[in-house]
Amino acid sequence: MESPAVSFLLFLLITTVLLPYLSSSEPSNVFPANKHPRFLGKHSHPIKPKYQQQYRYETRYFSQQLDHFSFSDDVPRFRQRYLINNEYWAGPSRLAPIFLYCGNEGDIEWFAVNTGFLWEIAPRFGAMVLFPEHRFYGESMPYGSREEAYKNATTLSYLTAEQALADFAVFITELKRNLSAEGCPVVLFGGSYGGMLAAWMRLKYPHIAIGALASSAPILQFEDIVPPETFYNIVSNSFKRESNSCFDTIKHSWNALTSAAQREDGLRQLSKTFHLCRELKSVQDLSDWLDSAYSYLGMVNYPYPTNFLMPLPGHPIREVCRKIDNSPDGSSIVDRIFNGISVYYNYTGDVDCFELDDDPHGMDGWNWQACTEMVMPMSSDRDTSMFPAYDFDYSAYQEECRRDYQVTPRPRWITTEFGGHDIEHVLKFFGSNIIFSNGLLDPWSGGGVLKNISETIVALVAEEGAHHTDLRPSTTEDPDWLVEQRATEIKLIEGWLDSYRQKIKATFNM
Ligand SMILES: *[C@@H]1O[C@H](CO)[C@@H](O)[C@H](O)[C@H]1NC(C)=O
Ligand SMILES: *[C@@H]1O[C@H](CO)[C@@H](O)[C@H](O)[C@H]1NC(C)=O
Ligand SMILES: *[C@@H]1O[C@H](CO)[C@@H](O)[C@H](O)[C@H]1NC(C)=O
Ligand SMILES: *[C@@H]1O[C@H](CO)[C@@H](O)[C@H](O)[C@H]1NC(C)=O
Repeated sequence: MESPAVSFLLFLLITTVLLPYLSSSEPSNVFPANKHPRFLGKHSHPIKPKYQQQYRYETRYFSQQLDHFSFSDDVPRFRQRYLINNEYWAGPSRLAPIFLYCGNEGDIEWFAVNTGFLWEIAPRFGAMVLFPEHRFYGESMPYGSREEAYKNATTLSYLTAEQALADFAVFITELKRNLSAEGCPVVLFGGSYGGMLAAWMRLKYPHIAIGALASSAPILQFEDIVPPETFYNIVSNSFKRESNSCFDTIKHSWNALTSAAQREDGLRQLSKTFHLCRELKSVQDLSDWLDSAYSYLGMVNYPYPTNFLMPLPGHPIREVCRKIDNSPDGSSIVDRIFNGISVYYNYTGDVDCFELDDDPHGMDGWNWQACTEMVMPMSSDRDTSMFPAYDFDYSAYQEECRRDYQVTPRPRWITTEFGGHDIEHVLKFFGSNIIFSNGLLDPWSGGGVLKNISETIVALVAEEGAHHTDLRPSTTEDPDWLVEQRATEIKLIEGWLDSYRQKIKATFNM
């Protein structure tokens, strides 16, 4: 029945969609199938700490549509939280800007304290500051509670980037109307997934925001746009540049851990060596725990002490490698690894024992997003990566998602919805006013936009930068490149605002 043309198309579709995902070499038994590094992982669901509120804002709530894309009255509304500061805002008569941070996968107050850049520059721009929270995170839970919101695939189906962008759009439009500030330009900011949202929002809603600073936004980490090995290669290189022996020790540690576990009483011994609160059930759990620490270290390899994911010293990878390399003579690989990892998990020295699994059901929001839209293929190269070798296996990935959420991922949806393929050509003559900033130490930079696309879609690339370093609060220890990068960002944003105001003036003078 099928015409040859149709079946040829089908064949093309099948080979191009599936082949990149089919692994050719034998899968590693150390790497789990659902291996998808997360931006913030378990940190995105923090046990509500007391955020030191060093910036002044008011917390408000907005009644939000749960489903922007249907007109059914059956879907309830929910309360979206947002943080607002008006005190620097020069108001509608001055066409004063509104700075909006696109909340990402976590508590919005956490992002507010870690996005000092926005607060620091608001006064010189006479800008209002807004931090709306992403739905299904923090306090912005539909269905009244986290438990209900995360109940099943039906309730979770409203957790998507498209809905989140529509939240921001509806919210800012109404807020401006309430303040009679329709003419005031909106500038978007965002880091990591929030940076992806900022860039996408500028492209999808150009009438709502005049520009976006998208920091560490891996909008190209989809399908085969960038090689799947990129992420782990960048992390590995960050360790290698500190010390070859550190890289080698970690690379060999996976087998060492597996052998140690296979000895008589091995798991119990390992649990003791690593000061675990509970006895290990499999060496896999330990490997995962180490693996995510190394990945996060790659992201937060800041040049000065920080407390974003964990309290850490400046140049934390250097410190980890020091501990690994300078362990007493005769230390085993396993001992060295323990000494190194303690820098990440126990820098303050007040952890009694380590809890490996604080999210046993994997029911955090990012896992759901990764199982639906955010399919970011990741592999670990046999030679260049210090992580266990692994070839991304889409069918295993899909299996996990079906098992955990009864949902089938749509790996091609993000690029269909937002683009990504051949971005230099697509955005060269379409779109404007986007800054893509990246630090090359950040493993997510591999999926970022690293080249200037046009006069107004620019890439700022910092060789020594980590995950959205530029958005962090300034410190007295900021290196020159960081000071310069922020100055460039300010100048570009000023340029957007100037040309916006000129256009408005020209219109009124006509
Ligand atoms: C999910 O939970 C809701 C609320 O309890 C229920 O109405 C719905 O039928 C459930 N959906 C599935 C797929 O189980
Ligand atoms: C706008 O004003 C209405 C009416 O006072 C209020 O209910 C709503 O929350 C306001 N919206 C925002 C975004 O402030
Ligand atoms: C954390 O560090 C302190 C101080 O070095 C040490 O006494 C404690 O045993 C460490 N905790 C774990 C879980 O290793
Ligand atoms: C892109 O252009 C900006 C100037 O607009 C410049 O500062 C920056 O270094 C360029 N980026 C790259 C990656 O060449």
